[in-house]
Amino acid sequence: MSTADAIVVSNRGPLTFRPGPDGEPVGVRAAGGLASTLHRLLAGSGTTWASVTMGPADRDAVARGLMVEDGLDLVPVDVDDGIYRQAYDVVANTTLWYCHHHLFDLPYRPRFDRHWRAAWEGYRAYNRAMADVVADRAAEGAAVFVQDYHFSLLGQMLATARPDLRSVHFLHTPFAAPALLGVLPDTVRAELLDGMAGFGACGFHSRAWEECFTACYAAAGRPAPPTFVAPIGTDPDVLAAEAAAPACGAAADALRAQVGGRRVVARTDRMEPSKNIVRGMLAFEELLTAHPEWRGQVVHLACAYPSRQGLAEYLAYGADVEHTAERINHTFGSDADGWTPIVLLVEDDWARSIAALSIADVLLVNPVRDGLNLVAKEGPLVNDVDGVLVLSHEAGAWAELDLGGHGALGVNPFDVVATAEALHVALSMAPGERAARADALRTAVRARTAADWWADQLAAATRI
Ligand code: F6P
Repeated sequence: MSTADAIVVSNRGPLTFRPGPDGEPVGVRAAGGLASTLHRLLAGSGTTWASVTMGPADRDAVARGLMVEDGLDLVPVDVDDGIYRQAYDVVANTTLWYCHHHLFDLPYRPRFDRHWRAAWEGYRAYNRAMADVVADRAAEGAAVFVQDYHFSLLGQMLATARPDLRSVHFLHTPFAAPALLGVLPDTVRAELLDGMAGFGACGFHSRAWEECFTACYAAAGRPAPPTFVAPIGTDPDVLAAEAAAPACGAAADALRAQVGGRRVVARTDRMEPSKNIVRGMLAFEELLTAHPEWRGQVVHLACAYPSRQGLAEYLAYGADVEHTAERINHTFGSDADGWTPIVLLVEDDWARSIAALSIADVLLVNPVRDGLNLVAKEGPLVNDVDGVLVLSHEAGAWAELDLGGHGALGVNPFDVVATAEALHVALSMAPGERAARADALRTAVRARTAADWWADQLAAATRI
């Protein structure tokens, strides 16, 4: 099957808009993440890509005919702002995201009150709006590639409206274990499992998330839909070209000057609770406490760019990250030798993020739980100093990058002391072992690209 016969569905499309100074909407291209990866894969293929207007600026852009892209058939699905906030903010990002990443603070959250139940109806309406557009646009027997937890209900809606379609769902997050899915109201859990069961196939980045998915169906006493595992990869040539660009070189020079020749423990993430940025800082503090020889010798370079700023939880998490960095800097920093232990950079700057990965002696990727974590794959490709990857066992990428103990150093993301010890081991590692591990990681990452991931989805559709 060629991509031209396909309809791709995602919440975020390749173009989003923000209001410009003169009122004219200004287009913003996603720099990282799913939308940019899909954009590169589909560019010029003529594929129909349906995504949702994420606010008034997007809708304004659609009205002015700006939501267009050469070589793609973009289909903006217009959803009322109130419905969008219910579906995206309340259900997708505060409930399902928290559920699949096991982030609920159970003594207090979630609270499934009448407002939440109204939001669930909004989520249903949002899925219905997409189902109506796909049912209307799709050719007889077309394949539909649905991305992510925003569209858990679409499978059953499409199976009812257009049983001829071959629908594939791909989840970029983990899937909740049965005990955590069981936190959802019974009727909601059943509706979600019904919705997903309507897809012809459901894909995951790792075997662990596929097993959670099938276990949830087993716990509900019903058969799961067909599943497949297809970890996403990078686009090594594009990444190499980006890393070689003057902007990245200049950013790397600036960062080197900022850390003043010290060793670097780097991370780059969205500012987001599942990324575990606070515990990463606490582990760095523990490193300075347990191994005082590193004081003044190493800088934790934390690039954490804003994400989902409409959500109180994300804003509160960002504040916690900033306070933690300030406290540790206040405790350990020294004006005398100009050492700032933690350099926290919060502006979204793609070139600087790549630069941070390129100069890292250690790359810390310690999510609480993560569908894959593409940074863990990008880091080894752009790193210039045989940086050591310290990687959470709970990232989907761990299954590919452990390499039988010869790739990344694994950590339990909740264990601050063990993470600090892994940082110490990584910083102390002999050059020969650093080089061997970095080489093994590069080889493993190059072996599977973003195009391979997409080919696996196309193949899944042909099996339906
Ligand atoms: O990792 C899950 C995911 O939804 C990706 O698909 C996406 O790139 C990222 O999170 C960012 O999400 P959002 O579009 O909500 O900013």
